[in-house]
Amino acid sequence: MNLVSVVSLFLLGIGFGFHFQCLHADDNAPKDFISIDCGGVVDSVDSESGFPYKSDTNLINSGVIGQISSDIADDYRLQYRHLRSFPHGVKNCYTLRPDSGRNNNYLIRAIFVYGNYDGKNTTPVFSIYVGVNLWSTIIYNDTRTEAIYVPPTDYIDVCLVNIGNGVPYISTLELRPLDNSVYRTDPHQFMVLSTRRDVGGDYRLRYPQDVDDRIWATYDDDFNLPWLKKIQTDGSITQNSNDPYKIPASMLKTAYGTLNSSIPFVYEWFPYDSSPTIYFCFHFAEIEKLSSGTIREISIVLNDIYTIAPSVILQYLVPRTICTTSAGIPINLNEENYLRISAASGSKLPPIINGFEVFYFANLSYSPTFSQDVNAVMDIKNTFKLLNSDWQGDPCLPEFSIWSGLNCSHRNPPRIISLNLSRSNLTGGIPFSIMNLTQLETLDLSYNNLSGLLPEFLAQLPLLKILDLTGNNLGGTVPEGLLVKSKDRVLDLRVDDNPELCLSPPCKKKKKKVPVLPIIIAVVGGVILIIALVLLLIYKRSKKKNSENSREEKISLKQKHREYSYSEVVSITNNFRDIIGEGGFGKVYKGVLKDKTLVAVKLLSSTSKQGYREFQTEAELLMIVHHRNLVSLVGYCDEGNTKALIYEYMVNGNLRQRLSEANADVLSWNERLQIAVDAAHGLDYLHNGCKPTIIHRDLKPANILLDDMMQAKIADFGLSRTFQVENQSEMLTRLAGTPGYFDPESQTLGHLTKKSDVYSFGIILFELITGSTAITRSYNGNNVHLLDWVAPIMKKGKIEDVVDVRIKGEYNHNSARRMAEVGMACTKPNGDQRPDISVVLEELKECLAVEMRTLSESYEFSSTISAEFNVGPNLR
Ligand SMILES: *[C@@H]1O[C@H](CO)[C@@H](O)[C@H](O)[C@H]1NC(C)=O
Ligand SMILES: *[C@@H]1O[C@H](CO)[C@@H](O)[C@H](O)[C@H]1NC(C)=O
Ligand SMILES: *[C@@H]1O[C@H](CO)[C@@H](O)[C@H](O)[C@H]1NC(C)=O
Ligand SMILES: *[C@@H]1O[C@H](CO)[C@@H](O)[C@H](O)[C@H]1NC(C)=O
Ligand SMILES: *[C@@H]1O[C@H](CO)[C@@H](O)[C@H](O)[C@H]1NC(C)=O
Ligand SMILES: *[C@@H]1O[C@H](CO)[C@@H](O)[C@H](O)[C@H]1NC(C)=O
Ligand SMILES: *[C@@H]1O[C@H](CO)[C@@H](O)[C@H](O)[C@H]1NC(C)=O
Ligand SMILES: *[C@@H]1O[C@H](CO)[C@@H](O)[C@H](O)[C@H]1NC(C)=O
Repeated sequence: MNLVSVVSLFLLGIGFGFHFQCLHADDNAPKDFISIDCGGVVDSVDSESGFPYKSDTNLINSGVIGQISSDIADDYRLQYRHLRSFPHGVKNCYTLRPDSGRNNNYLIRAIFVYGNYDGKNTTPVFSIYVGVNLWSTIIYNDTRTEAIYVPPTDYIDVCLVNIGNGVPYISTLELRPLDNSVYRTDPHQFMVLSTRRDVGGDYRLRYPQDVDDRIWATYDDDFNLPWLKKIQTDGSITQNSNDPYKIPASMLKTAYGTLNSSIPFVYEWFPYDSSPTIYFCFHFAEIEKLSSGTIREISIVLNDIYTIAPSVILQYLVPRTICTTSAGIPINLNEENYLRISAASGSKLPPIINGFEVFYFANLSYSPTFSQDVNAVMDIKNTFKLLNSDWQGDPCLPEFSIWSGLNCSHRNPPRIISLNLSRSNLTGGIPFSIMNLTQLETLDLSYNNLSGLLPEFLAQLPLLKILDLTGNNLGGTVPEGLLVKSKDRVLDLRVDDNPELCLSPPCKKKKKKVPVLPIIIAVVGGVILIIALVLLLIYKRSKKKNSENSREEKISLKQKHREYSYSEVVSITNNFRDIIGEGGFGKVYKGVLKDKTLVAVKLLSSTSKQGYREFQTEAELLMIVHHRNLVSLVGYCDEGNTKALIYEYMVNGNLRQRLSEANADVLSWNERLQIAVDAAHGLDYLHNGCKPTIIHRDLKPANILLDDMMQAKIADFGLSRTFQVENQSEMLTRLAGTPGYFDPESQTLGHLTKKSDVYSFGIILFELITGSTAITRSYNGNNVHLLDWVAPIMKKGKIEDVVDVRIKGEYNHNSARRMAEVGMACTKPNGDQRPDISVVLEELKECLAVEMRTLSESYEFSSTISAEFNVGPNLR
């Protein structure tokens, strides 16, 4: 695939020159240049151009780092002394994401310095692809390949492909944006550079002389041809800032001419590859001061038959670029080709040439895989953190490197028709993005550890023939649509070995095991009484649990997320009349559905980029999680720029409002306890009921909503993250939350855990107890954190001094003390010492039980309980 001209077998001049001792990045280096130092452990600076090369450590997961042989290392600049090689896998890819995205013109360049890095002294032969198309086959050990490419996608995959002749490797990878009008013949094109010459130049040119960082090799007096004459000028070239080719002046200042007008300048080459068409650009400037009245007129002809330009007239010191205009000029395959640059007929002056470029057209016969399929499968890869080493580059192309577990249709563009992730250690729910693989015929997710409900959208995949979910932990019922298809024998449905899954309603959920809470019995007397009490409580609790569970199930099965149009949203909200709040990503409006259900509509403000991410997070989470103590989604709107989430309306507002002094309707102690238990339930579900764990990250009373029955529900998942999925550095940049509730430990550690939510929850408990806000302003104007004044009083055991004055005399001292102790445990400075939310939940339920008992049966137990109930060891 290499078109090698007779005179241009380019071995790189990269060893040439000297090294600066003190390297510094040139601040003027164009920001949109991408320069990757493959195999570099740290970023480096190029000693010639002065601009920075980025280490590829964070850009690619595969491959191994190598060093070129030390005897020759000194001859090479830093970025060429190491490389990345790919001993594993057929295809390994870098993904470039230029700022200007798709449909723009780019120069991309890869450089390969073998340097006997593997000690085998054998030059490997391998291929490099751009997107899904073959770019070049690398056969030399010190070489580069360069292309002009207009990508159809916002990213560019550059893939090194093992063709069975040695381990692929790469030293640097570069991308330079070009003006969209240069080197263009097609809306989408892909041309590979054959050669680029600075005729008559003495040294290799690139950035900064060439602002586009093209590399101009010299075309010197290679053969000392006696009829050629080198000419140069000291005059300054008149650069036109509108000239899109931006040909470097220093390149134009030298040229070759011939001795007289009857001698042409001939460039000849032999095409080694099968590319049948070619593309040229010639660069001229008159650099001889001619006597007035004389002009130089030049013609360019290929193989004596194809006239590229009949007449080019040059002006003194003015650049002139002539490129072929057709989509590729046919050349002679397997024989010599001649380019003649001659004096046009009648012209007295001999021809000159200052520089030229030769490209051949690469095969663009393949389109990348249908982008919606690519996005879906990338989402699946990210969701499950799949480490399949061959999941790189395009999923379906080239055909010999289809991602393992996929099969594709051989259409143009290819579509994904089969996804097999059987026995891949998958956990969590079935990702929503599968819905977008609309050509899927086979979906095999068997023998993983998938949990959550079996989603209904699977029934909507029109071509699905095999659905294998055997051997997972899926729950809920099998959606009706799937059962119907299976009954009609359209679908081969396999769902065995999912212990929690119910094949057809009515479905009774299995009774969950009640975690046994260790209870220390501190007092010697009354043992029997206590045992009796504990038994009674467990009995009551499990009875209650059954009824809770069935309620939970009903709600989650009823869950349907309707899509609403923008006009429906307008009518639901009565043209956004009633603002009831302001969330992380926009305003919240009150609304009424056609069936008179009240809803809250959260509208994403169009300007906020951060808001959009939060909106996405919240939407994705709420599609998956369903719990009666999490606010639930009724529907959504995603039309053009309008994005809205529609929730059940929470009549009683949020906990912050309810606790505020402005609210005359004071929450009773019993209601506060119930709210604490509800919220702990919701959080326990996020932490322990979801796989992977979900961390809310912004728990606070304003995010705890109360429905008409005063049942509490956690809201606002915009900052939530799934745990164990995040890499630490990203977490650092995304630490967010609300002052007062934010875990101080995570601030120092730089990452969040479940225990950060537990900390916030502890603060909420104290707010329930005290009625105060997390941060209050003291008499001298300083901000005081709730813990700062509660903790000292707690130490003295004076719980009554912290309880909200508005419920003085109307609360149970014991349950208040226990709740405060739970709060203290939750807010321990060290996350490891804080209890898991499941333990907190059990404790709070005990508090509630104590309270209920006090209310209804105080005459029996009140005197004994106070002494007997102690905080479990987990809370110490
Ligand atoms: C590179 O290839 C040339 C020609 O095949 C060979 O002479 C040279 O030794 C090779 N260099 C290395 C470092 O292998
Ligand atoms: C051009 O130069 C060549 C070679 O030096 C010579 O043979 C030829 O006569 C010259 N022609 C003219 C018109 O001067
Ligand atoms: C381009 O692709 C076509 C088929 O799609 C093939 O026949 C031709 O040989 C290819 N050309 C090159 C240069 O690879
Ligand atoms: C992929 O699908 C084709 C039919 O489109 C089939 O012939 C081939 O066997 C499948 N390959 C695998 C690995 O399942
Ligand atoms: C999925 O791949 C496994 C092997 O990895 C194979 O046993 C199974 O038959 C495949 N499933 C389907 C539906 O082809
Ligand atoms: C799944 O996990 C087991 C045990 O950790 C491991 O041996 C196996 O290779 C994993 N399988 C895949 C496909 O990742
Ligand atoms: C499905 O594809 C559409 C269009 O490409 C995209 O907007 C949407 O976000 C995708 N949905 C999922 C769940 O990935
Ligand atoms: C599957 O997930 C559950 C929790 O959801 C976990 O307890 C269990 O160990 C997992 N099983 C395997 C084989 O990884």
